[in-house]
Amino acid sequence: MADATTMMTMDKGLDHTIIGESTKSFIDGAKGVLEYVGIDIDTLARHSSFEETCYLLWHDRLPTASELEAFESDIRSCYDLSEGLWNMLEQVPVEAPPMHMLQSMVAALAFDDDDCDLVTPEAEIRKAIRILAATPTIIANFDRRRRGLDMMRPDTSENIATAFLHMLNGEAPGQASARALDVCLVLHADHGINASTFATMVVIGTQSDMYSALSAAVGTLRGPLHGGANERVMHMLQEISGPDVVESFVLERLAAKDKVPGFGHRVYKAIDPRATYLKTFAESLASETGNQQLFDMSKRIEQIMEANVGSKGIHPNVDFYSATTYYSLGLAIDLFTPIFAMSRNAGWAAHAMERAADNRLIRPRCQYTGPHGASWVDIADRS
Ligand code: ACO
Repeated sequence: MADATTMMTMDKGLDHTIIGESTKSFIDGAKGVLEYVGIDIDTLARHSSFEETCYLLWHDRLPTASELEAFESDIRSCYDLSEGLWNMLEQVPVEAPPMHMLQSMVAALAFDDDDCDLVTPEAEIRKAIRILAATPTIIANFDRRRRGLDMMRPDTSENIATAFLHMLNGEAPGQASARALDVCLVLHADHGINASTFATMVVIGTQSDMYSALSAAVGTLRGPLHGGANERVMHMLQEISGPDVVESFVLERLAAKDKVPGFGHRVYKAIDPRATYLKTFAESLASETGNQQLFDMSKRIEQIMEANVGSKGIHPNVDFYSATTYYSLGLAIDLFTPIFAMSRNAGWAAHAMERAADNRLIRPRCQYTGPHGASWVDIADRS
């Protein structure tokens, strides 16, 4: 039986489908280029801050000094949670995976927002700021609680990276650590229509709200084929007993057709420019913090992968060296993906706002391969 789908092209991973126009990020996967609103990622990593990068992604231009000051002040005014949300955070089981906790808490931010369904540019920015600002407080305080520590309110005189590390560790971080995290947040802020951003757009496409869209994105990012890979990289590095066995470990994995986490990308077939930057970072942080062996093992894995599967376009992705970087910063492994989410809130919100301004319900089709005209069998007669 033929229907309209027989005239359509099957594109299971949507690799060959363009779902709209965007001014947010440009990726040239063959050349290893990434730009946010036309500015090269390396330039942003060197000169910008996470807050300024958010402004760029949400307004399609860099802010003036006074605009940036006002934007930062708006963000800081939303760091703290309402009493209801602090109470809710107290109730989350301490064994909960942090990404499940975060997904629930992002959705719960809607409880306090009477304008949750108001779709004006100003209201959308305000919602995006609330999620961006509250996420570090939520992640850090969940971690404090599960370590048996009291909750700690955010310091509104600090930027996002500093305030997060301050709450997490109970003391203000050194400048180098705070800047390292700030740069990581810049590097992870947006990346075209990746799986979690697509999830955001599917939700926004139904005219649902920003909180629903970004909580769906958190759930999507969690998967090991996407943002969850950074935690898998760290577990792999811990599983390898020492530098001598790196080669056999990787070769066995490849022979068994197991994917090596932190390698490969749907779009990049050249090296991921974020990985190049993070590699330099991982190297200096690892040597400063006594994690040199971890970096050396990572470099060895990269060499073995290059020699064996580099010709297939399999190179390190953003998750590979971010694992060593976060570990050297003293962050718990299961916070790596939540920190990715903390940054990607910027891109998710940017695409949500862009889509809402030029919306079309996303509703693909599948090719039906089941039976037709099947007969009904009463439950008592089924075997
Ligand atoms: N290790 C070993 N081989 C790999 C890897 C890897 N990490 N990634 C891809 N390959 C091989 C595949 O086995 C396949 O080989 P074959 O043609 O001989 O069968 C070929 O490369 C193509 O792989 P696909 O899985 O079809 O490529 P796809 O574009 O669907 O996958 C993906 C991209 C999912 C990222 C994949 O590379 C992967 O699973 N990587 C590991 C997980 C990971 O690091 N994810 C994070 C991505 S970045 C991000 O989302 C933030």
